[in-house]
Amino acid sequence: MVYVEFSTISKHFGTSVAVADLDLQIEQGEFFSLLGPSGCGKSTTLRMLAGFVKPTTGQIRVNGRNVTALPPEARDIGIVFQNYAIFPHMTVFDNIAFGLVERKLPRAEIKQKVDAALAEVGMTGFEDRYERELSGGQKQRVALARVLVIEPEILLLDEPLSALDKKMREEMKYWIKNIQKSVGITTIYVTHDQSEALTMSDRIAVMDQGRVLQIGTPVEIYEQPASRFIAEFIGESNLLDGTALDVHGAVCSIDIDGTTVTGRLTQNNAAIKGQAVTLLVRPEMIRLHSLDASEKPKLNGTVREIIYQGSVVRYRIQIGHQHVMVEVANRPDLARLDLDDDVEVYWNADSGVAIP
Ligand SMILES: Nc1ncnc2c1ncn2[C@@H]1O[C@H](COP(=O)(O)OP(=O)(O)OP(=O)(O)O)[C@@H](O)[C@H]1O
Ligand SMILES: [Mg+2]
Repeated sequence: MVYVEFSTISKHFGTSVAVADLDLQIEQGEFFSLLGPSGCGKSTTLRMLAGFVKPTTGQIRVNGRNVTALPPEARDIGIVFQNYAIFPHMTVFDNIAFGLVERKLPRAEIKQKVDAALAEVGMTGFEDRYERELSGGQKQRVALARVLVIEPEILLLDEPLSALDKKMREEMKYWIKNIQKSVGITTIYVTHDQSEALTMSDRIAVMDQGRVLQIGTPVEIYEQPASRFIAEFIGESNLLDGTALDVHGAVCSIDIDGTTVTGRLTQNNAAIKGQAVTLLVRPEMIRLHSLDASEKPKLNGTVREIIYQGSVVRYRIQIGHQHVMVEVANRPDLARLDLDDDVEVYWNADSGVAIP
């Protein structure tokens, strides 16, 4: 069931366009991420849904109701920002109770709800602490509990992990996803970190310059990016320049330096015979050693650089005048290569993406 719907939403600040003709449909209970580079309009989109920013054009509906003109307090939306925003002069308990006290709930009910929220975010026993006595991750848990305790219809998270160190970010990624699942709350998550979006989301909208470029599951966005920009923004990519030889439905055969390989055309993409086409292959999809001679396509290359990283070994392979990075698991059954070794470069036909 569609729960949140943006229809041709735009936001102009003077002459600059922050968001342009945005159409989005978010399902009930979904974990939906807005992913894109700085300044692409993610926070503006979130703020329009929360009611802090008024759209220039278009309509926003929540659960079938037009909320476009409603003030924030009439929308039943909880929002968590990157910089915690918990009150330093209040204990953890009072911080979490704040929204319930404002709603004038009976004291016994407040205590019961705050205790439940504390348990949910794994902070039971911390009720008497102040902000200065908490780590960054703990502060962010309190910020989330403060929002969850008022049981909003929608949870908005605007880069909630960006103030945390790398290790804490990793931990909180899984933790937020699990909480969201167990509460079942419709969540919109804003980030410019592709690994956060891939790890947590049911679906991702990739944005650039105020526009949505592609919407899909993490697998679709990573494995079938609709453009070169998306391919390069999400994950690491090898992009080989070639020429389209032939197109059969979604399969495009491509000439790369005299060798024919194939790639899949993704969402809204078409190729024309003779046109320049880029072939995308992810480093971990490429194999340098294969006993299966039926595997196509195959290019001849030479090892130009070896980067040992413990669990994986990365090779930079020269193919004609182009290069690819290849990531090989460090396993005893896979032979190590040396500099200047000649190799055959393989991948499953499915793993190549053709981008016109
Ligand atoms: N109140 C405002 N007045 C004028 N311009 C604004 C205002 N708010 C945002 N903008 C502009 O709108 C564009 C989108 O901003 P927004 O904050 O939505 O980007 P973002 O994707 O959240 O970026 P970041 O990842 O850096 O937070 C930017 O060019 C920004 O400068
Ligand atoms: Mg922002």
